Amino acid sequence: MGARRTSIHGEWSSRLAFILAATGSAVGLGNIWRFPYITGENGGGAFVFVYLVCVAAIGIPIMMSEILLGRRGRQSPINTMRTLAQEEGKNAAWQYIGWLGMAAGYLILSFYSVVAGWTLAYVFRTGTGVFEGVTADGATSLFGQFVADPEKLLGWHTIFMVMTIIVVSRGVKSGLEKAVRFLMPLLFLLLLVMVGYAMNTGQFGEALVYLFKPDFTKLSAKGMLTAMGQAFFSLSLGMGAIMIYGSYLSHLASITRTTIVIAIMDTSVALVAGLAIFPIVFANHLTPELGPGMVFKVLPIAFGHMPGGTFFGTLFFLLLVFAAWTSAISLLEPVVTWLVENRGMNRVMASAWAGLVAWVLGLISLLSLNVWAQYKVFGKAFIDLVEFLAANIMLPLGGFLVAVFCAWILPKETSLDELGLGDHFGYRLWRFLARYVAPIAVIVILLFATGIIELKSQQ
Ligand code: PHE
Repeated sequence: MGARRTSIHGEWSSRLAFILAATGSAVGLGNIWRFPYITGENGGGAFVFVYLVCVAAIGIPIMMSEILLGRRGRQSPINTMRTLAQEEGKNAAWQYIGWLGMAAGYLILSFYSVVAGWTLAYVFRTGTGVFEGVTADGATSLFGQFVADPEKLLGWHTIFMVMTIIVVSRGVKSGLEKAVRFLMPLLFLLLLVMVGYAMNTGQFGEALVYLFKPDFTKLSAKGMLTAMGQAFFSLSLGMGAIMIYGSYLSHLASITRTTIVIAIMDTSVALVAGLAIFPIVFANHLTPELGPGMVFKVLPIAFGHMPGGTFFGTLFFLLLVFAAWTSAISLLEPVVTWLVENRGMNRVMASAWAGLVAWVLGLISLLSLNVWAQYKVFGKAFIDLVEFLAANIMLPLGGFLVAVFCAWILPKETSLDELGLGDHFGYRLWRFLARYVAPIAVIVILLFATGIIELKSQQ
């Protein structure tokens, strides 16, 4: 069994600082932009049900594994995996978990920054009263015109990426804690205000049924894959973000308790966002299949009509930018630590280079919305393809490997020591989930979705 280490990149000031940073990473566009739109595309209740089961049975044990590995290795995900594998006399190829994560991180950040750019633009659009009195058709066509304009998108994408680079270049530990502590509860509160508005004016009952009454006939194999992918995406798992944050966590903190807190907060934000959006969708006779533009087509209708809507709307998009920002930072951090450790760069140079690569990749996504809209890869626009590949394939694969490494390869004493639960029920439950349930579920769902296994009833 290897020894405990310290990180050359420093440590969080407290357990709370870690919880806040990890929640900042988890809560972002995934909860408010992605969750509602993919729920709408996949038929509602049954999809939400699978997502929740995936969070509990796959997400939580894998998050514990990632934090555990990060804290044990105390380096960038690639070097952590290499060190831990070598320490146990295992194959150095385990470091490829880190490489896979790095690739996923670049891909996610590239389109994430484009969508965060939409959010930035919507702060100003809402603020200048563009949506006052807007109709459902109006909001939809305003969004359509907006994404058709590559220059505007480019400006916002660039601003967002620069914002991300700036924070990462100064080190993620300063400032993140204070900001998340105030702004995240405020975002949650504002979402509750929206839910209140939706309760009064929207089709709240219909939305409740849509979201929470599973109709399994509506669930496809692709829907299951997307629900699982969303559990990974939303919890920031499978690409090293939580691993690198775990590498700054003190040995005194309990991994289990922190993980549960983070997972509950993240999932609540997604569900509340759903409850804010779907009643408005139904009240305006829109279909739930609004695609990636959903939040930007639906919420402006509410802001355009509620009292104080311009104020609330501006604040809402501002807080969403902030939530996206704290997530984007965690997407860049693993790559930056690796560049610092292995390429001898300083933090500023490393952040600038890594950010530049993600920015360039983002240009392809950005242009696929307008100038290159006629080109499809596997029937999808490039931006949708990258999102699909990264969230639904790469993250689950990364998570699968993390669980296998942590629960099969790493000696039991190491995980016992890190989790600090003793060899009792909690530890055994984690080990059972990480050894069997999570890896098997990931593989089975991937096989279903690729059609390698088929359900009889679907034929
Ligand atoms: N969890 C973030 C969100 O929900 C996105 C993210 C994914 C961040 C993977 C880091 C790693 O918006």
